[in-house]
Amino acid sequence: MSKVPCSTSVALALGLLAVAACADEPLSSPRPSAAALAHPAPAPAGGGAPSTGREIFRHETWGDEAFWTNALRLHEVVEQAVDPVTALAVGLKIDATRLPPGFLAGADLTSPATTVELLQRDAVVGLNAKVTAAGRIAQLGITCALCHSTVDNSVAPGIGRRLDGWPNRDLNVGAIVALSPVLDVATKAVFQSWGPGRYDAYFNHDGTNDPVLIPPAYGLRDVALETYTGEGPISYWNSYVAVTQMHGQGSFSDARLGIAIVAQPDLVTPKLPVLRDYQFTLHPPAPPPGSFDPMAAERGRVVFNGAGRCASCHIPPTYTDAPLLHTPAETGSDPVLARRGTTGGYRTTPLRGAWQHPPYFHNGSAATLTDVVAHYNATLLLGLTPQQQTDLVQFLKSL
Ligand code: HEC
Ligand code: HEC
Repeated sequence: MSKVPCSTSVALALGLLAVAACADEPLSSPRPSAAALAHPAPAPAGGGAPSTGREIFRHETWGDEAFWTNALRLHEVVEQAVDPVTALAVGLKIDATRLPPGFLAGADLTSPATTVELLQRDAVVGLNAKVTAAGRIAQLGITCALCHSTVDNSVAPGIGRRLDGWPNRDLNVGAIVALSPVLDVATKAVFQSWGPGRYDAYFNHDGTNDPVLIPPAYGLRDVALETYTGEGPISYWNSYVAVTQMHGQGSFSDARLGIAIVAQPDLVTPKLPVLRDYQFTLHPPAPPPGSFDPMAAERGRVVFNGAGRCASCHIPPTYTDAPLLHTPAETGSDPVLARRGTTGGYRTTPLRGAWQHPPYFHNGSAATLTDVVAHYNATLLLGLTPQQQTDLVQFLKSL
């Protein structure tokens, strides 16, 4: 294994803290087989690196343990102070299929040792850990599933079967990162200000504190550009996040952002195609039965395509006009994020599974779909009647 140059150094918070995230060798993560998922057992320590798109999405850390463990030392905090009750309170989700029957009933959910056991069983969605025989966390890393998966709550709130692609809007990433013992008070204050379901994917570059909602990773197959500001196609953004946010060991360069990171070996780039293909299999969830009025939704469709002028940008079947972008003023959106991105505009958000992930707009400025419609009615001077507005909401709930 060749020695890696200190290529993935990151500066958090305007360089207040510079941490070298360099790995001598890639750390591998557990690779559960279908049989292992059906018959839960402690996750193997080590094992091969994830290779299928689904395993990569769920389990690949790209060697980011160098950051989350060696630099941020989050493993120490988890081991000492994060019991399962606390873990659930900050929005972490538990994959019940990894646990033997009766495990939770018999476990002490107020003991950090139980969290370590859950990690050992590969049952904490989006966290990958290597646990020693003595019950210590040797390595802790994060995966894509941390932010872009949740569970169906079939066992208890926060505990159930995985739902890949569903944004974890309960996850308080900022509160979790702020647990790190190496961060200064000012940086912690920024992270603590984010709140659940929000993350800022540019903060460590530009120092601006303006988090966005974690979006779904489903329903993107026919969408030309990803992210709220339309930064690029899916693999561009996956690479950006894996290297510059998760701090995995990979290469990412973009002259527009002034970033040129070269890692040797590059653990990220070769896996991007299968990771993309897996995301393309993630379809938006159908609205729950009875969650909208079909007759009103049909009337709302007419408003969407006509008096509401929605379909001029939200073009079916994807409900976006990407790669076209829009100025913030066109939709009355807050302009800060558009200025921070490289495009200066906003992509028309594809309306996949809109019922599933309130609040709405990149910064969550609309709490409900009713608020969304009221926003457009006022901003675009649509003059929709109350009936047209409620019908439009029913249509949005049907998507
Ligand atoms: C710490 C939380 C976090 C992690 C981990 C994370 N993401 Fe994201 N992801 C976000 C946020 C926040 C955005 C929105 C960024 C924006 O639009 O400016 C996003 C955007 C996306 C999008 C674009 C969605 C859209 O509608 O445009 C996709 C796809 C995606 N992420 C997939 C991934 C994959 C694959 C990984 C693993 C390599 C990953 N994410 C890791 C938080 C995360
Ligand atoms: C000029 C183009 C344009 C028009 C017209 C338009 N939208 Fe949008 N829509 C956008 C853009 C751009 C965004 C992203 C704005 C943001 O996140 O700040 C968006 C976001 C949304 C969202 C938020 C989705 C999410 O997951 O956060 C909904 C819902 C929505 N629009 C519905 C509508 C409806 C209903 C209408 C008609 C009344 C409409 N839009 C008219 C461009 C448009």
